[in-house]
Amino acid sequence: MVLDLGEQPPANSFIDQSELNSTEPKFPLRLFWCPNCFLVQLLDIVDKEYLFKNYLYMTSASKPIVEHFTKYAKEIYEEFLQGKDDPFVVEIGSNDGSLLAEFKKLGTSILGIEPATNLAKLANQSNITTTNTFFSSKVGKEIAKSRNASLVVANNVIGHVEDLQDLMEGIKILIGENGVFIFEVPYLVDLIKKLEFDTIYHEHLSYFSLLPIVNLTNRYGLEVFNVRKQSVHGGTIRVFISQKNNFKAKDSVKHFLDEEQRFGLSDIEIYRIFSVKVAEFKRKLKTELEIIKKENKSIFGYGAPAKGNVLLNYCDIDTSFLDYVIDTTPLKQGKYTPGTHIPIFPPEKILDKGAGHIALLLAWNYESEILEKEKQFREKGGKFLIPIPTPIIK
Ligand code: TMP
Repeated sequence: MVLDLGEQPPANSFIDQSELNSTEPKFPLRLFWCPNCFLVQLLDIVDKEYLFKNYLYMTSASKPIVEHFTKYAKEIYEEFLQGKDDPFVVEIGSNDGSLLAEFKKLGTSILGIEPATNLAKLANQSNITTTNTFFSSKVGKEIAKSRNASLVVANNVIGHVEDLQDLMEGIKILIGENGVFIFEVPYLVDLIKKLEFDTIYHEHLSYFSLLPIVNLTNRYGLEVFNVRKQSVHGGTIRVFISQKNNFKAKDSVKHFLDEEQRFGLSDIEIYRIFSVKVAEFKRKLKTELEIIKKENKSIFGYGAPAKGNVLLNYCDIDTSFLDYVIDTTPLKQGKYTPGTHIPIFPPEKILDKGAGHIALLLAWNYESEILEKEKQFREKGGKFLIPIPTPIIK
């Protein structure tokens, strides 16, 4: 075990007012490192039906992600699909269909696989054909019976998958001889470097570096032929996989593996240091918030991302510090943050706010966009407290 964040409620389990007095289920949130395969992972696994059947995170609520997806679809289309006869794109964890909608606009056939019933319904309502289920080798085989996928995409979801072997088996069948599997996952090196400990939560079972991915794909006769760094979600890698020897492997793969080795991911020491820094972070943030409170300023949370809930719960920040939280996701508004019970409001709540108000930026991964968007709040004297990697007022 390399880090213990205590017992926490699942980070996306926002609660209704009527549930405020009931006991919330809490589960250990502990990070483990495997000295054999070097995968960093949780071993306390919360039932996936409980976590994902009704899901409040909507891709379309974060403008920067929608912009990222528009660019992403275009790039991938031009590199792998353009000129092919009726390319077929399957997305695992397709959420509200935001990414598939971009592929559809480019003229491909599409299919979404999404376990959240509420999101699959939303996607189907906007004509993004979506099957409401968890992806598995069985599902992969079933789809492949009618046709193989030219491309399988999976964004910020592979880390949610408990049985990675079964996933790879499904991918191997689904992409057939010539298809490509491309996924994006938050990158462990960034998580450690930038102290993004709040991205550790029950939904995220694996925290990937490239090495365990390469080892896993090799076992299935698949190959990582390229890897590229992306800036979204605090630092992500986009990994490209095909059947062995279908593409010439790019130098990027070796480069990433060498860098990971140099960075020290195959030694426990780096995780020991990380864990000490996380404990220091808590002390620093609490001190900062106490100073602000003593100055009689009002503090609110900006964004109610899942990671914000980890930060709040780990640092014991509740309504004695934050008066409320604002978030653009309609499904979250009117609810309360899990564990800390802070009410969530639409962003309009801060229209009249300025001097004497401090916004704790829980959605720190969108810092530049949000600071730009909230120019008025800042011009009127409002300030942002950016927590990660180290608390700083802007
Ligand atoms: P994410 O980091 O997992 O994408 O979650 C970001 C959360 O922050 C999501 O609930 C939407 C919310 N959000 C805002 O409230 N305002 C914003 O300007 C952005 C970009 C996101």
